[in-house]
Amino acid sequence: METLVLKIDEENPEGDKIREAAEIIRNGGLVAFPTETVYGLGASAFNGVAVRKIFEAKGRPGDNPLIVHVSNQESIYDLARDVPGIARELATEFWPGPLTYVLKKNGIVPDEVTAKLDSVAVRMPSNNIALALIKEAGPIAAPSANISGKPSATKFEHVLHDFEGRIDCIIEGGDSMIGLESTVVSLIRTPPVLLRPGGISLEQLRKFIPDIRGHEALFASNLIGKPICPGMKYKHYSPDALVILVEGEKERVESKMRELESVYLGKGKKVYVMGVSEKVEVARHLFGVFREGDSKGYDCIIVPGVDEKGIGLAIMNRLRKAASEIVKA
Ligand code: TXA
Ligand code: MG
Repeated sequence: METLVLKIDEENPEGDKIREAAEIIRNGGLVAFPTETVYGLGASAFNGVAVRKIFEAKGRPGDNPLIVHVSNQESIYDLARDVPGIARELATEFWPGPLTYVLKKNGIVPDEVTAKLDSVAVRMPSNNIALALIKEAGPIAAPSANISGKPSATKFEHVLHDFEGRIDCIIEGGDSMIGLESTVVSLIRTPPVLLRPGGISLEQLRKFIPDIRGHEALFASNLIGKPICPGMKYKHYSPDALVILVEGEKERVESKMRELESVYLGKGKKVYVMGVSEKVEVARHLFGVFREGDSKGYDCIIVPGVDEKGIGLAIMNRLRKAASEIVKA
């Protein structure tokens, strides 16, 4: 299949190109598009046949549901039923932006989108291209635009690498601002539960949901066995290289990383050491570093841990899932 590449200006998306991409979506095709978190691989949220093609293209397990992307708050009432008041409050505060929440779904959403669950995840992204595309095409079901199990795509080139020749269209926008996926919160549980840490922090959410349960609540015995966030059970974000995560106090981490570097170099390995930098920078570049590690043939990537405040919780969540080894400094 020939993949159409549309280069679109993020500041001022060209209407004709947006209409062309939207037409592909409306006709049941797949379009990868930029968002502020990571690139998404989209199909019309109301077209089950089109949505099934996303699972094929990604190699995604059929029981892992997709997020429906909307361009306005009112759309939640088209997709969900019994919408709690907190949903509107959160949307008013955090949308457009990196927050996804799970609501009870209504009958209009195909089973392919929700993996037959009785719930639907919804988010309104803030990227101008994404918003313009959704406005033109209607709600778009989209997972991250990466082959299943691989690091998410935060640059056009990442998407091209994974999907050229396999989907109808890729929109070339800028790099993703945040670099990690959205925060996912379940509002169908009382109290609400954080299903995936992401671009909106737990601290920010606590101001609106003081009793929100953290991600660790998912591992508590009474919730285990019920796949409340089906994505959790799958291997994620892993480059081919070994990821070695070094946790501990900053000074000790740096010297431990150097020590590990020389150990692996001594074994004849090709080693990439990720610098210690601001958390927003780590978030923005993490998946790119993983992907570069693979394209340049590194055997191992040594990464420093960060504290779990703010975006740090999401960074550590992704790092721990990607790591083959966790070293305490
Ligand atoms: O930032 C993001 O969220 C990106 C961009 C493209 O919007 N999308 C993304 O999608 O990361 P994906 O499919 O890679 O991750 C969606 C997560 C999965 O862990 C999935 O299990 C969970 O959301 N999810 C989706 N629908 C759900 C539902 N009804 N109940 C519980 N979890 C759900
Ligand atoms: Mg993903």
